This record gives sequence, C-alpha cells and structure tokens, in this order.
Amino acid sequence: MKKKLIVANWKMNPTTLKQAEGIVKRYKDVSNLVVCPPFVFLNSIKLNKVQLGAQNCFWLNEGSFTGEVSPAMLKSIGCKYVILGHFERRSIFKEDNKTINLKVKACLKSNLNVILCISELKQLKKSLDGIERLNKVIIAYEPAWAIGTGKACSASLAEKKRLLIKELFPSCRVLYGGSVNEDNYLDYNNFDGLLVGELSLKKEFNSIL
Ligand code: PGA
Repeated sequence: MKKKLIVANWKMNPTTLKQAEGIVKRYKDVSNLVVCPPFVFLNSIKLNKVQLGAQNCFWLNEGSFTGEVSPAMLKSIGCKYVILGHFERRSIFKEDNKTINLKVKACLKSNLNVILCISELKQLKKSLDGIERLNKVIIAYEPAWAIGTGKACSASLAEKKRLLIKELFPSCRVLYGGSVNEDNYLDYNNFDGLLVGELSLKKEFNSIL
C-alpha cells in the first residue's frame, strides 16, 4: 500500500529484545511505515526509513508519576508518532475521553503526530475537544468487535464510518484498524492507511506494505 500510512501496533509483544529485533529486520524499509513496539524496545529498534511510534503516553512531561512515560521523553529518543485512546487502553485501563484529550493536547505540544483510536464516532468530539492542530492528528477507526477477533469490518460499513469521520474532521487522515490481514486489506483502500495489530508481528505483513 504505497503512499498509505501503515501503523504496526505490536501491543505487549514480543517478550524479548532479541525477538523484537528479529521482527523489525524482516520489515521492508519503507517510508510509509510506523512501528509501535512496547516502550522498552523503542530505543533499540532503529531502522532507516521506518518511523517510530509509541502505544501510549502521559499528559505531563516530568514529575512524580510512577510508571509513566512523557511526550518529551518520546520526542528525545526520536519517536515521531504516538497511539492514543486505543480500545484496549479505554476498556482495560479505563481511560476516558477526558484523559485522552489531555494526552492528545500534550503530545501535540511536543510536536508528536497523534494516532487517535476510536471505536465509536461519539468518542471523537470529546477526545479532540479544543484541539487546533488537527493536521497532526490521524484518526484510526477500529470497531471494538473487530480488534483481535479475526472479524474485520465490512468494506461498506467501514466506508460509511470513514465518510462520517471526514465530514466531522476533514483535515485529519483516517485509518482503518481491526483484524486487517493480507486477504482483506484492499477492502480499506479508500482510507489513508491501516492500523495493524497481529499481522504486523508475522512475516506475511510484508505483503501489505
Ligand atoms: P488487530 O489489532 O489487527 O490484531 O485486530 C488492531 C489494533 O488493535 O490496533
């Protein structure tokens, strides 16, 4: 998918640095790919053209916030993108639109590109409330039931949602995510790119780049 933005969300995988280096070595060195490994591997995974992204981020740059990672820290190691509001953060870690909005604002302030995930359109307005630099925000439409289930969204429903998102936020790029695989990725050709989970850890991932 040349010219489209492909985001590889590794989630909490793999378990060792050696394995992480092995996965990255398999990737085609293309400029439209953003790799989002777990935080601990970010600094060890350097590729020529491939961009680095984080899977989450706190909303302040420093202080007594045990276990958190800040936008300034990500920026300082060359990270250009950050995924915010992923369904797993919302459902498992109870992040709400207000928290996500704080994170979006903080990341934009640090000049990071934000990949804002939503599974329902109603999450959009609150997550992006008061945000002006929308050209640095990429919206990923990921229906909750399609994430990690093998049941991708139909091309027609995805297109309906894409158009609705574009109507609300015309200056944002829109990605599709949720059970993307080498057989269905062309169904989302109208989107500006893809957010890929499971497939991005496998060697078949190269066939969609
Ligand atoms: P999946 O994950 O491709 O494994 O469904 C996508 C995501 O959670 O971003």
